[in-house]
Amino acid sequence: MSRSVLARLLFICAGTFSTFSLLSCSSEERSAAFDLESAKKRWNTSEKLWNLQELISLEHGRVIFSKNCAACHGKEGGGNLAIGAPALVNNAIIKGDLKYHLALIKKGKNLMPSFAQTLNNEEIVDVAAYERNVWGNHDYSVFEGSLD
Ligand code: HEC
Repeated sequence: MSRSVLARLLFICAGTFSTFSLLSCSSEERSAAFDLESAKKRWNTSEKLWNLQELISLEHGRVIFSKNCAACHGKEGGGNLAIGAPALVNNAIIKGDLKYHLALIKKGKNLMPSFAQTLNNEEIVDVAAYERNVWGNHDYSVFEGSLD
């Protein structure tokens, strides 16, 4: 299902329920429970109100990070020197060029595994969007980037 079709579908679902489970709206693996109100609280700032599709991506990115990345980089992005995983808080790559950041996650580098087989392009954008908007980062233009 294309991103725009999925977004439209989810928009219809969201219009019907203010709190809803993605599972009931989508057959895709975006099955993490999604609570619109807590997502708004977590991500919206006085400068930026994310749209529904963006909130879903950020929340999805949060889940992807805890499942696929936190084991090495730490739940709070503190890194793990013992296995050579750099801290992601205040990280130059996350604050830097988006294309490079996306490609690094997809292809891996040295001990950083490639996620090309594990995550699709949309999920890679989601997790990058998460990294670029936690730990004091605010990259509001992240969804303009694409791996396609
Ligand atoms: C097996 C451990 C491991 C896992 C799992 C892992 N990483 Fe990494 N990551 C690394 C290592 C090691 C590096 C340093 C690579 C290098 O430059 O040599 C790295 C580098 C990075 C960097 C660049 C930071 C920098 O300063 O070089 C980012 C961003 C990153 N990882 C994001 C992620 C994301 C997102 C995930 C999950 C989708 C993830 N990593 C999963 C080990 C891991």
